[in-house]
Amino acid sequence: MVNPERFLADLHKLRSFGASGVGNGVVRPAYSEADLAARDWLSEQMAAAGLEVQMDATGNLFGVTEKPSLLLGSHSDSQPEGGWLDGALGVIAALEVARASREADGPPVSVVSFQDEEGRFGVTTGSAVWTGHLEQTVADALTDHTGVSLASARAGLADRVTGPVDARRFTGFIEMHIEQGPTLDTSGGKIGVVTDIVGIRDMRVTFDGQQNHAGTTPMHLRRDAFQALAAFSTGLSDRLRNIVTPQTVWTIGHVSLHPNASSIVPGRVVFSMQWRDAQTDRLARMETVIRTLADEIAEAHGLTVRFGPVLGLDPVEMDATLRARLEDAAEREAPGAWRAMPSGALHDATNVASLMPVAMVFVPSIGGISHAFEEDTTEQDLVCGLRVLARAAAQR
Ligand code: GLV
Ligand code: MN
Ligand code: MN
Repeated sequence: MVNPERFLADLHKLRSFGASGVGNGVVRPAYSEADLAARDWLSEQMAAAGLEVQMDATGNLFGVTEKPSLLLGSHSDSQPEGGWLDGALGVIAALEVARASREADGPPVSVVSFQDEEGRFGVTTGSAVWTGHLEQTVADALTDHTGVSLASARAGLADRVTGPVDARRFTGFIEMHIEQGPTLDTSGGKIGVVTDIVGIRDMRVTFDGQQNHAGTTPMHLRRDAFQALAAFSTGLSDRLRNIVTPQTVWTIGHVSLHPNASSIVPGRVVFSMQWRDAQTDRLARMETVIRTLADEIAEAHGLTVRFGPVLGLDPVEMDATLRARLEDAAEREAPGAWRAMPSGALHDATNVASLMPVAMVFVPSIGGISHAFEEDTTEQDLVCGLRVLARAAAQR
């Protein structure tokens, strides 16, 4: 039997690592001091639950049972300004289910907290390396927005690393997560059983112009990187209109303007260009539009444009058998109050799906807010999700 009090207490304890002091928010980016302290604490909890603690070279943390076992979990790193449940919920729910299953002599359940799901360095970096989608040597060369490489960040893992963790020991993976959107909250639903996860593409773009004096440079002679970005952003919404669906999204979320001073015409801007959709071919068509428009804007503004590597994940469907287990559990724990639904957020489950059967279960996000300090879910909904996960994991 899962213990809701123990589960909620652990969830709050994990929040204390990197607590932002604003609401329940956390600042726990991958490989930060808070992230490593949280991983150390998680390791202790795994060991106390009778699991064998293992960490691979990327920093993915596993608590494993005897083979074979089901794997449950998510990630414990956060966005630069993150909520307390994104990732953390799936890890702590996994810990509670594994612990309760051992106490009750139930089926073996292993636990994982993947590293850098939130993309400080890439897109779901830790699970991408673990599943072989990304070579460690390639990942090592990735840099964050301040220029720090993953290689130097993971040097901080020091002697925590035990070695590779063989995926063949796991029979399947279930990730519990908050929905991070408004669907369950606005419909009064308690549980979402995920049908598929959208695909994502993410690319760094640079416009190089000419840095110059903001008082003396006539407007028609400027090669202003900010003006180019503004025109690009506006133009993109227009150009994409005919190829996107209401579910398609695109975001310029990180902008670094150089030198970012009031009296200087900016000479360079580096920005993140991210787009998501359920269809791989639409993602490709969007990429063509993005590159073509950036080229055109650069030319019109007298700039040059550079594109970084395109990182991404393709859309995936969830495994029918594991999904049916979750649906059956949802109907028992929340009769009539669950729905099958796609995930618009990306998850480690996407990478893991290439190695084993994978499924996901969602609980509501209050106000549909996530990737923000305000992110929250009622305790009743958190516990309902835990019970669904436990019930699904207990089915042999
Ligand atoms: C995951 O955090 C995402 O960006 O969808
Ligand atoms: Mn997450
Ligand atoms: Mn997230």
